[in-house]
Amino acid sequence: MAALAVDATVTDSALICFSSSSENTLRFVRKLGMDFARLPLYAKEAPLLATQPFVLVLPTYGGTGGEGSVPKQVIRFLNEPRNRELLRGVIGAGNTNFGDNYCLAADIVAAKCKVPHLYNFELMGTPEDISRVRTGLETFWTRLSQTRS
Ligand SMILES: Cc1cc2nc3c(=O)[nH]c(=O)nc-3n(C[C@H](O)[C@H](O)[C@H](O)COP(=O)(O)O)c2cc1C
Repeated sequence: MAALAVDATVTDSALICFSSSSENTLRFVRKLGMDFARLPLYAKEAPLLATQPFVLVLPTYGGTGGEGSVPKQVIRFLNEPRNRELLRGVIGAGNTNFGDNYCLAADIVAAKCKVPHLYNFELMGTPEDISRVRTGLETFWTRLSQTRS
């Protein structure tokens, strides 16, 4: 399995994020106060391997017409079937200046992986976003555990 030829970093976090060097998404996720894992930025770093169901938080980095909106680090992570199987939902980060392409990457991943697109926030989010995501995730995981038991 080429993607995991080198040792992977294993995580059991229920929240996984990608954040580039500008770290807006990272700041948002830190404010949630929950355990989380961050996807590696660079190809030379060990890939991340999820071992528990998780929600992915990802920003959009689009080109013209939304091309290339999903960061390549996220594509690499989700190309690993064990990660894809454990994905339960996505939360999008973006900037409304991008109009129709606002948080497009989360739309794309949700559609492709057939999981719910739970929420969108701008840049590093507002205190209201933090509170809504905290409560929303709690409800989401509770409902999911009830429907699967
Ligand atoms: C080159 C570039 C392209 C971007 N394209 C989009 C876009 O298509 N849609 C969107 O909602 N936000 C877009 N953004 C905004 C980022 O998603 C936003 O700044 C986000 O907070 C970045 O998160 P990060 O700092 O954690 O990487 C773009 C930003 C840059 C620098």
